[in-house]
Amino acid sequence: MKYLVTSALPYANAPLHLGHVLEIVQTDVWVRHKNLTEDEALYFCASDTHGTPIMLKAKEMNISPEDLIGELHHQHHETFRNFNVNLTNFHSTHSEENKELTSEIFNKALKKKYIYKKQISQLYDEKEQIFLADRFVKGVCPACGADDQYGDACEKCGSTYDALELKNPISVLSDTTPTIKESEHYFFKLNELNDYLKKNVQKISKQKPIKAKLDEWLNEDLRDWDVSRDEPYFGFNIPGEKTKYIYVWMDAPVGYLASIKNWTIQNNLNYEDLLKKDDIKLVHFIGKDIVYFHLLFWPAMLKTAEIESLDEVFVHGFLTIEGNKMSKSKGNFILAEKALAYANPDYYRYYLCSKLNTDISDIDFSVDDFIQKINSDLIGKFINIGSRTQNFLLKLNNSKVAPGNIKKSQEYSSTYKEIINFIDKKEYSKALKNIMSIADKMNAYVSNEEPWNKAKQGDEERCIEICSEAINVFKDLSILLQSFIPSISKNVFLLLNASDLSYEDLGADILNDVQKFEPFITRLEKNDFDGILD
Ligand code: MSP
Ligand code: ZN
Repeated sequence: MKYLVTSALPYANAPLHLGHVLEIVQTDVWVRHKNLTEDEALYFCASDTHGTPIMLKAKEMNISPEDLIGELHHQHHETFRNFNVNLTNFHSTHSEENKELTSEIFNKALKKKYIYKKQISQLYDEKEQIFLADRFVKGVCPACGADDQYGDACEKCGSTYDALELKNPISVLSDTTPTIKESEHYFFKLNELNDYLKKNVQKISKQKPIKAKLDEWLNEDLRDWDVSRDEPYFGFNIPGEKTKYIYVWMDAPVGYLASIKNWTIQNNLNYEDLLKKDDIKLVHFIGKDIVYFHLLFWPAMLKTAEIESLDEVFVHGFLTIEGNKMSKSKGNFILAEKALAYANPDYYRYYLCSKLNTDISDIDFSVDDFIQKINSDLIGKFINIGSRTQNFLLKLNNSKVAPGNIKKSQEYSSTYKEIINFIDKKEYSKALKNIMSIADKMNAYVSNEEPWNKAKQGDEERCIEICSEAINVFKDLSILLQSFIPSISKNVFLLLNASDLSYEDLGADILNDVQKFEPFITRLEKNDFDGILD
């Protein structure tokens, strides 16, 4: 199988935070893991560049939207790299490939009459000369009378409504009272695909809470989806229209395909042929806030365009910080680049993955817990196996691992298989728990066997055997951990004079020389983290 894997396309209007890191690490681990098996995986992402917020942000900064998205594209790409995330291609929705693919899909839907036109009324800001999206208008809730509510839903009573129903509406952009203006929009008849979407959910989602949510949506009539916006807008024109644009959420998921297409062009491959292959599977990793787009709108678009490669949409929960939703005003917002100033990127990778599984509950980042987890697991358990045994091999065996000492490695081979299986099912917390429990067992074995006493008592051969057993298991655990902590594992491989170890090397007697460990990873201390939450 060849997997084309994606994480959601980050909006190119702000730097990435630790919540984004959670998603791209979850994706990267799975891609790296697949490449250690017989399957192959490629990782595609892109900047999500269109829409009103990006247009307004650029205006506020007095730069062009192109400059804004260009700068953030560059920054995001750098952050991916800094967290040891291995992207195959990082493209942009503001690209030729995306423009072509989006118009193609739009035109097919139009031709098949899934898309139709109708006249609608909307709130209009006369001063700024712009139709107001729901988030750009505030007023009194028509249901409960609460002040200061957005144009789509009330935060006080939870009711949802049309912005036109809002009492005393005020434009957030100009503080003026909007007028009501008519305009022609394009709508996608989502409900006509209801039966298909129901069946499709069974295929592309294996997560119970997601399926339940989708059932709830699909058991009622789905509303027609407004896929157009009036000028001014930063995006692609609707084919044949001068002042109307394709809504950002229609061209954004096409950005996944645009990134793949751009990569095929760079590599002299044929994009159409690639997507048609039976052994090609498209897998999306996303957060739970964008399920509607990925399990309803996007499959509907793919169906209309007759693209059948979508295999799975995998959903994760939200990252909270010290138990609270991330928020700048509450002072618990951690930018990805800032986090790197405090600890090794692999530490964050390890910590986040130790909490990730297949349910969609939120995942908490707590500084104390982070310090404790890294010190206890990575330093106290994992690295400890190597650092406490390799000295004897350096001193007593000419820096060599003695051949034939793979009893322990082989004893654990069925657990290794279980661990690989857990990673494959995206049950990372279970995989890591099992890895650490082998580390515990191995440390207990070394403590019981007391190689240091064997050497003292003159039985150097036994000391060398015990330490070689330990180094072999250490090698196995590094192989199993390498998708999670690629840079630390790489350092371990270097010390073992082995490179590119894969699942096939688990339990194998392949080590020869070892080098002296340099302290390449260090313990975390509480006072190193002063200011991380400021
Ligand atoms: N641009 C859209 C996605 C388009 S995909 C065709 C978007 N961008 S985003 O930058 O807001 O979010 C990107 C991803 O990060 C989404 O999957 C979102 O769920 C995820 N996360 C954003 N904040 C998050 C947390 N606090 N925790 C975990 N994931 C979070 O949505
Ligand atoms: Zn209300």
